[in-house]
Amino acid sequence: MSGWKGMARGWRGDLPRKIEWIPPSNPRICANFLDFYALAAYPTTMEFTQRFVVEYEYSVHFTRDALAPASEVLRETLPAAGAPHRCLFVVDSGLAAATPELLQRVEQYAAHNDHRLTLVAPPLVVQGGEACKNDPALLASVRAALEAGGICRHSFVVALGGGAVLDLVGYAAATVHRGVRLIRMPSTVLAQNDAGIGVKNGVNAFGTKNFCGTFAPPFSVINDLDLLRTLPRRDQRAGQAEAVKVALVRSAEFFAELEASSRELAACEEAATEAMVTRCAREHLEHIAGGGDPFELGSARPLDFGHWSAHRLEEMTNGEVRHGEAVAVGMAVDTCYAYERGLLTMEQRDRVLRLLRDLGLDLHHPELERMDLASALDSFRQHLGGALCVTLPRGIGRLVEVSEMDLDLLRRCIAWLGQQDAVSQGDDR
Ligand SMILES: NC(=O)c1ccc[n+]([C@@H]2O[C@H](COP(=O)([O-])OP(=O)(O)OC[C@H]3O[C@@H](n4cnc5c(N)ncnc54)[C@H](O)[C@@H]3O)[C@@H](O)[C@H]2O)c1
Ligand SMILES: [Zn+2]
Repeated sequence: MSGWKGMARGWRGDLPRKIEWIPPSNPRICANFLDFYALAAYPTTMEFTQRFVVEYEYSVHFTRDALAPASEVLRETLPAAGAPHRCLFVVDSGLAAATPELLQRVEQYAAHNDHRLTLVAPPLVVQGGEACKNDPALLASVRAALEAGGICRHSFVVALGGGAVLDLVGYAAATVHRGVRLIRMPSTVLAQNDAGIGVKNGVNAFGTKNFCGTFAPPFSVINDLDLLRTLPRRDQRAGQAEAVKVALVRSAEFFAELEASSRELAACEEAATEAMVTRCAREHLEHIAGGGDPFELGSARPLDFGHWSAHRLEEMTNGEVRHGEAVAVGMAVDTCYAYERGLLTMEQRDRVLRLLRDLGLDLHHPELERMDLASALDSFRQHLGGALCVTLPRGIGRLVEVSEMDLDLLRRCIAWLGQQDAVSQGDDR
């Protein structure tokens, strides 16, 4: 045995105090003695603590007709620079189909504001809806367009579309050159009040929702309320489910507002929709900034209320059930469970279920009966990391985190919701 004995471990800058040399018995080691000595003059185990803080700030605008040539919002969002910013627009195919003049409007906007931005290519249209998050070729094509357009870390990607397209483009943007600037222009209710304003992106892989993704705050978000005009009612409703979620776990006042405007919301009236979208987005932003865990390093995820079964339902139906629709079903299950656990009164449970139903959302899906609940909970646990942490409502506007779910009780809740569903379908006939 030879070498240095008694060298300091966990060195934080002080030289080792006690050093003792034991001559090597092997001559080859002796030949390298000088080199060895030079290296050994410093301890082999060191530790430095690296610490820095990165502050994030991004603007979330609520506006109308953001692509009118004279509109200032997008133009002013781009920082003044010596030369116009290179921009690539990526557009949701559903939105493009519903607004045939949209692509031309993008080009006209760029032409009118050519002192501030220049298009590196005509807008790229990508398939809208959940299917785009399942298609690796589509992700590759977005990255290829960024490469072909010479998009650098000072250029901009502007994504126009529903939550799925924003997630896909956001993931591509966050992983090209280790992150290029992204401006989101959400075009669905759900994307404007939830998916498009936060700090996450992602695509599905290995049969799991959002298996690949990053935390990457956008450069800016422009919620153009006019974009919602062409959104089918089904997608309007799906977005309302996320508002019920936010209200139920954060604000009794917002919940009461939703109840009071449920008729107008169900009819997708513009004024009610706008009030709901802006309030929900504000609550959501406050949660991200003030909740203490914007990048979700802990296991608690209050705004994922109802999501453990919702994600599995989306997977089981291959995205046929919309995200918001699945969340409504998931919230109904967890609301019944919270009631059975004594966290909600019967009156509070019925208020939640009534509001969801009044908004035209289903509270049950046949696939729920076939769902492997233990596996769905475990996937959720794995996605969040650490121990299982499920958010449940405790009264209206407050929440509690639980680390266990009783599977038999959950099955009984699902069966009860199934019966209620059968009764209400009978009533409808
Ligand atoms: N990143 C996040 O923080 C976050 C949060 C919540 C949800 N999400 C994700 O968002 C996705 C759901 O988003 P969504 O509800 O917006 O649905 P979506 O993106 O699936 O869009 C629904 C449909 O509407 C079409 N469409 C979009 N805008 C339109 C418009 N203005 N007019 C006509 N058609 C239009 C789309 O082409 C699509 O067919 C899910 O993948 C979900 O996982 C992400
Ligand atoms: Zn959601």
